[in-house]
Amino acid sequence: MTALIELDGITKVLKGQEQPRTILDGVGLTVNAGQSVAIVGRSGSGKSTLLSVIGLFDRPDSGSYRLDGQEIAKLPERRAAKLRSSHFGFVFQRFFLLKHLTAAQNVAMALVNGQGWLPRRQRRSLVMEALDQVGIAHLAKSRPAKMSGGEQQRVAIARALVRDPKILLADEPTGALDIETGTLVIDALLAATERGCGLILVTHDRDHAARMGQIHDLVDGVLTERVTVR
Ligand SMILES: Nc1ncnc2c1ncn2[C@@H]1O[C@H](COP(=O)(O)OP(=O)(O)O)[C@@H](O)[C@H]1O
Ligand SMILES: [Mg+2]
Repeated sequence: MTALIELDGITKVLKGQEQPRTILDGVGLTVNAGQSVAIVGRSGSGKSTLLSVIGLFDRPDSGSYRLDGQEIAKLPERRAAKLRSSHFGFVFQRFFLLKHLTAAQNVAMALVNGQGWLPRRQRRSLVMEALDQVGIAHLAKSRPAKMSGGEQQRVAIARALVRDPKILLADEPTGALDIETGTLVIDALLAATERGCGLILVTHDRDHAARMGQIHDLVDGVLTERVTVR
């Protein structure tokens, strides 16, 4: 089986200011279809930088990055942008929903950017399927102001899922939520892995991390897999 994501010796150095600083230091990581990975580490340890590199918003300075078996560490930006939209769904701590649009309209926005307008019926069925996958189909016509934080985050997850990504990248998606609604958000992310999606979750929450198939600690840019006894 080809790994979805295979990082090997990924290094990212920040130049500028005074001295160059190594933000990612020889990171290796393999994620297969349907696998879930937690990345845990202190603030400033490089977690968001790592997700940016994986999600092709940023490039490594050295190392190898194979996506679906293809080496892409040095891909030109136009091709990287294509892979970014065809392969990845992003979820952030802030939901970034448009206030004046309903849940369904917010999710539909993801279809506009990527592929132009699909026929209305097809669009509607994809949107409703994505909302259903995160358990909030009944909120399709609600606006964000009427929803809880956890519901708003699930709209954001539906928006990431509607384009059928191969990998979800979630950067502290429960950071602004209480424990109970946070758990529902993690449920929605894990449900996607059951349909074959890969998941990389950055989190401070031990309980959420413990639900992932692998846990990796990032300390000063060095990533180490935690060996868990189950
Ligand atoms: N664009 C940038 N310019 C300057 N410093 C940055 C930039 N991006 C990240 N950093 C620095 O890189 C380090 C890692 O940041 P980040 O990946 O956001 O960590 P984390 O997500 O684990 O909190 C931090 O010290 C941060 O200040
Ligand atoms: Mg961060």
